[in-house]
Amino acid sequence: MGRTVLIVGGGGREHALAIGLVESPSVSSVHVAPGNAGTSQIAINHPVSAADVNAQVELAQSLDVDLVVVGPEAPLVAGLSDALRAIGIPSFGPHGTGAMLEGSKRFAKQVMLELEIPTAGVQHLTIDSNLDEAVDRWGAPWVVKRDVLAGGKGVVVTENRDEALDFIRTSIESDGMVLLEEFLSGEEASMLVMMDESGFVALPCSQDHKRVGEGDVGLNTGGMGAYAPAPVVTEEVHNRAISEIVEPMHRYLSSQEIPYRGCLYVGLMISLDGAPSVVEYNVRFGDPETQVTVPLISSDLCDLLLAVAEGNLSNSMPTFSNSYAMTVVLAAEGYPGPPVKGRKITGDTSSNWVISSDGKSTIHHAGTGFSDGDIVSTGGRVLAATGISSNSLEHARELAYKRLSEVDLEGSFYRSDIGHKVLKK
Ligand code: AMP
Ligand code: GLY
Repeated sequence: MGRTVLIVGGGGREHALAIGLVESPSVSSVHVAPGNAGTSQIAINHPVSAADVNAQVELAQSLDVDLVVVGPEAPLVAGLSDALRAIGIPSFGPHGTGAMLEGSKRFAKQVMLELEIPTAGVQHLTIDSNLDEAVDRWGAPWVVKRDVLAGGKGVVVTENRDEALDFIRTSIESDGMVLLEEFLSGEEASMLVMMDESGFVALPCSQDHKRVGEGDVGLNTGGMGAYAPAPVVTEEVHNRAISEIVEPMHRYLSSQEIPYRGCLYVGLMISLDGAPSVVEYNVRFGDPETQVTVPLISSDLCDLLLAVAEGNLSNSMPTFSNSYAMTVVLAAEGYPGPPVKGRKITGDTSSNWVISSDGKSTIHHAGTGFSDGDIVSTGGRVLAATGISSNSLEHARELAYKRLSEVDLEGSFYRSDIGHKVLKK
């Protein structure tokens, strides 16, 4: 009898985790709450909100699960892992205090400063601050961050002084304070680190594309596409990131009363001369980074996640394939503003891998659901087409875009330049 697993959440990340867990030889049954149209094709969906901690705990109990994998940050910050562990259910994802590394940018900065982890300088601004002086200290571009969970929308990076000041003022009005950060230049990469008190392991690094427009212009989004591995993370950069950023954080987290068990997402900025520093920590898998990372794990995904949840990672280290992966997000009209929802999606939306020579492709669903038997859009990031190739990143790109061309959604759009930093047109 294999294991029963519950995945909390309903985005592309959770669909990628569901596909990986369904493929795990040690798993017999995968449940997702609330899931999406894609997860319903391969697992059992339950109409329970990810944010409803009590209902998720009840569901996990009623299903008698062996493991809960928490996708989004909000239930982690609200203490879902603590509640599950209190009744003996292993949960992949940190406890509420550990989750504050993402829940509060101010707390994360404090920890980084204490541990001397390289990161941007910061000013805490309140109603009593001299705002003109503050914005002139480092000059343009300005990086303003609200200290709230805002789904990636609480950050403004701008060359426009008035826009920066406006956002600073409105944030102080609504939250009482705001962070003004020093601008870091360089190239970003995402390092997802599996971590518990027994050890840690970094998964292949990836690169997200956060701006809505081609050439990395326009508003910030949750992420419009990603690829892995990211060549900007050379062996030297990787080693520095591990020794200067991950190791001190792992030592710190493991010395706390309750250890951190889950994914620590390190958002890296890599300067021109190869020095890594931290843009942000997240306490969960990235989205869409998961869609290009989980398929590169060649060992049993459930063994890995369960080992972390039980504090036993050092005895269950994963292995990786040498493949290349790319995912391209299809976004709804209006995104990243309020998206148009409820439109019918046609074409091949199946999440079965289409296998070709040297590669495979799939559709990772995100904001999708059912209406009158049709698959319809329910969110801003609707789905992502993902290509995996054993040959090259170019081939992975070809597979992803071909797969995307087989799906139709009125008004939708995607970036045609995912991977532009490392690939020629
Ligand atoms: P965050 O939510 O902190 O990840 O910020 C969202 C995005 O804003 C990041 O992915 C970066 O592209 C950009 N950003 C955040 N902080 C900085 C910084 N200190 N310097 C340059 N860009 C930043
Ligand atoms: N792709 C960025 C994130 O997951 O926060």
